[in-house]
Amino acid sequence: MPQKDVLPSHIGIIMDGNGRWAKKRGLPRKAGHKIGATAFRKTVRYANKLGIKYLTIYAFSTENWKRPEDEIKAIIELLRNYLNDAKNYKSENVKTRFIGDLSVFDDDILKKIADCEEESSNFTGLTLNIAINYGGQNEILNAVKLISKEVSENKLSVDEITTQTIADRLYTRGQPDVDLIIRPSGEQRLSNFLTFQSAYAEFIFMDTLWPDFNEKCLDKALAEFAKRNRRFGGI
Ligand code: FPP
Repeated sequence: MPQKDVLPSHIGIIMDGNGRWAKKRGLPRKAGHKIGATAFRKTVRYANKLGIKYLTIYAFSTENWKRPEDEIKAIIELLRNYLNDAKNYKSENVKTRFIGDLSVFDDDILKKIADCEEESSNFTGLTLNIAINYGGQNEILNAVKLISKEVSENKLSVDEITTQTIADRLYTRGQPDVDLIIRPSGEQRLSNFLTFQSAYAEFIFMDTLWPDFNEKCLDKALAEFAKRNRRFGGI
């Protein structure tokens, strides 16, 4: 078990390597996403058990629409399955939120998302943000538009705008910035994930492919995080 006093408040995870995991086994890419969804559930449960307060998981980016249609369908189906099962996870006390431009999803998914958010809104355990059709740059753009509108309607003056004004208009408003971003699969990029919120995040890259990610991998990342000397621009 990792040391409690040095746990990050907010962890972001980029679930990467599902396709490669499947390819290595001669399976279709969607088989990797299926096991990836199991790794996701396992990770959420464990982070909650450890007492992590916020976990943001990158499930589908604004760029992922470039993938073949059957792969996109398979990922959306996994999301739908998760939403259908969500009521069985109530005892876990996880507050679930969906972040991203949700307007593109079908009405049945939007209804399930609204129900899942509503039913877990008073839960006091981990806050889980599931990022779907999410892009960090779009999120900032959206905040800029909201601020511009408020300025044009004289609800806000330009001089009043601070970084907090922007943070308050992101999907993660009210939540602390991300402290730790974990990316498995050997890739070392942020890929438009939590662009604004990651200004002072620690990054941990791992070679493990996402479907193989387990409790031990999270323990390892947390042990590494505990050793980092975070200075936030000071000395
Ligand atoms: C990246 O791996 C993974 C994705 C783009 C999809 C992740 C989605 C899931 C695991 C579905 C579950 C989601 C929920 C919310 C239940 P990749 O395909 O880019 O891997 P590669 O780099 O090896 O090709």
